[in-house]
Amino acid sequence: MEKDLKFPEGFLWGTATSAHQVEGNNHNQWTEWEESPKRINYLKSKELNPADFISAGACDHYNHCEEDFDLAKAMNNNTHRFSIEWSRIEPQEGNFNQAEIEHYRKVIRALRARGIEPFITLWHWTMPIWFAEMGGFENRDNIIYFVRFCDRIVSELKNEVKYWIILNEPMRYAGMAYLAGEEPPQKKNPFVFLRVISNLAEAHNRVYEAIHRIDPNAQVGIAHQMNYYEGWPASFINWFWSKRFLKKIEKHFDFIGLNYYRRLLIKGFNFNAGKGQRIDVGWEIYPEGIYHVLKSLDRYQKPIYITENGLADSQDRWRAKFIIDHLRWIHKAISEGVDVRGYFHWSLLDNFEWAYGFWPKFGIIEVDRETLERKMRFSGKVYGEIARTGSITPEIIKIVEGGKNYD
Ligand code: FCB
Repeated sequence: MEKDLKFPEGFLWGTATSAHQVEGNNHNQWTEWEESPKRINYLKSKELNPADFISAGACDHYNHCEEDFDLAKAMNNNTHRFSIEWSRIEPQEGNFNQAEIEHYRKVIRALRARGIEPFITLWHWTMPIWFAEMGGFENRDNIIYFVRFCDRIVSELKNEVKYWIILNEPMRYAGMAYLAGEEPPQKKNPFVFLRVISNLAEAHNRVYEAIHRIDPNAQVGIAHQMNYYEGWPASFINWFWSKRFLKKIEKHFDFIGLNYYRRLLIKGFNFNAGKGQRIDVGWEIYPEGIYHVLKSLDRYQKPIYITENGLADSQDRWRAKFIIDHLRWIHKAISEGVDVRGYFHWSLLDNFEWAYGFWPKFGIIEVDRETLERKMRFSGKVYGEIARTGSITPEIIKIVEGGKNYD
């Protein structure tokens, strides 16, 4: 029997969510897009029910957060990542809604009361309508509005929050919104795509400085999507998709947040999943990839948090094993000196998975869409044991192997 794989003292164990995916009843550029005739007609043409693709009440996490954090606590989590919805805070340009700021203060206090350290994302793809109508991050002149919003939030909450993530997956956002044209504002223009990337980097850098002016002790980073690429030209894609943005913000992060999901095999312009087990949305499970990506991040000499890692698995057949397998590779990277300090599983709850709608089930907690009832999955119990012991023990492995496994 193998011995325990022990994670470092103080390692953070948590889950992640984003406002638009869980809160319900937001009003931002995504809500408008979900309900637009163009989108509804598209869904109908595919014989899909539009209601399954409109975020609407989502998981009503806005009103159920205490209950949800009880479940996080039941999993012995000591951290949680979530985002603040800009469109709630500043629904009209320059009009800040203090009641909504107080809502997030309550959220933070609810976490702290359970011994859970908040990691706050300031931008997870959604924006107020007025900002989107001005062209969002297409225009360099608009960056000031985002900086002002962040400045306000951090000034209000600086005494309650230590960790800030400015942007979530800027490359994936720009790619889907401005290159693939699949998400709002559905443009397909490589020049605008490149401009949005550079404006997001500039926004990041300015917000980083603003946060440090307000709170010199804050820890500020990014949640950066990095896949593991093989094939040709993997090194080019890796440079363009993963490294280039980090280079643009290089002097402006105190930690790196890594969002790792999968391996992609590249052949020219084609990107394919490998032969491993697929998750419900078709991505390949490839735990070893996280190790290679972590090794590649070592050169920045900054603490690393896995800010997202997870899978759509409605039957919860592979989730427990998925977590353990990824943690083994993370542990190997740590044992070779990579400074990984925490792991956030995506996601706490089944939620609104953007253009996929509600059908992918990424939650370690199952949410019944009708009754909104929450139920911890088998994998949640396993994750709770890992967090409790700070280790992967032979007992935990036995529970998983006796339970569910890949096909
Ligand atoms: C990431 C996003 C997150 C969620 C997961 C599945 O790219 O950051 O919001 O959609 O994928």
